[in-house]
Amino acid sequence: MIITIDGPAGTGKSSVARTVAQRLGYDFLDTGAMYRAVALEALRRNADLEDARELGYIARLCRIEFDWTQQPPGVLLNGAPVGHALRSADVTRAASYVAVVPAIRQKLVEEQQRIGRQRPNLVTEGRDQGTVVFPDARCKIYLDATPEERARRRVAQLRARGEVVDYREILEQILSRDHRDSTRAVGPLAIPPDARVIDTTKMTEQQVVEEILRLVRAVQP
Ligand code: DC
Repeated sequence: MIITIDGPAGTGKSSVARTVAQRLGYDFLDTGAMYRAVALEALRRNADLEDARELGYIARLCRIEFDWTQQPPGVLLNGAPVGHALRSADVTRAASYVAVVPAIRQKLVEEQQRIGRQRPNLVTEGRDQGTVVFPDARCKIYLDATPEERARRRVAQLRARGEVVDYREILEQILSRDHRDSTRAVGPLAIPPDARVIDTTKMTEQQVVEEILRLVRAVQP
């Protein structure tokens, strides 16, 4: 059974999806990590992030694999582990350029679908999992939260890491990322028509996990 979890940045998708996968004994697929891996390679090659052709060319040189023996699965770029390098602010920014290139989306969508065939018990997390990648998934979830709450969570995360950040700046970044994610031509962030929407604004991560497990049990007792 495939469970898709989509939604904007800062809704806690990754940690919720990881915990749900663990609780069910399913594999966890972080599709954002695939866009981030291409972004990392683009930065390493000093690519022009505005040049879709150059990014497309670089993506063709990227072999992205997961080490499924790890929890969560480790990300390998051309054979080398890169998990630790994918979370930097530079990669986050570059990934949002990578994610609008149709040829790159097509390649990564095909790879995600192949993973879905090989690992049929999967919790997959991203922006287009229920709409484009796995339109026939049995259980589709869309996580949401107000931009203000998502900015608050992001600020808390960064401050916990010792970074000095400004709330208004983070809120603006979130709003512009939302806009880019939901207005791009291919695979935009959208609520799948058959998804259950969970507004996490006033919920703890634990409550979101329990709610998803309840919805999963309802489709597969
Ligand atoms: O979820 P994340 O922050 O790791 O995603 C990184 C970038 O990739 C972000 O700009 C959104 C984009 N993305 C996407 O377009 N489609 C996906 N399925 C997953 C992520």
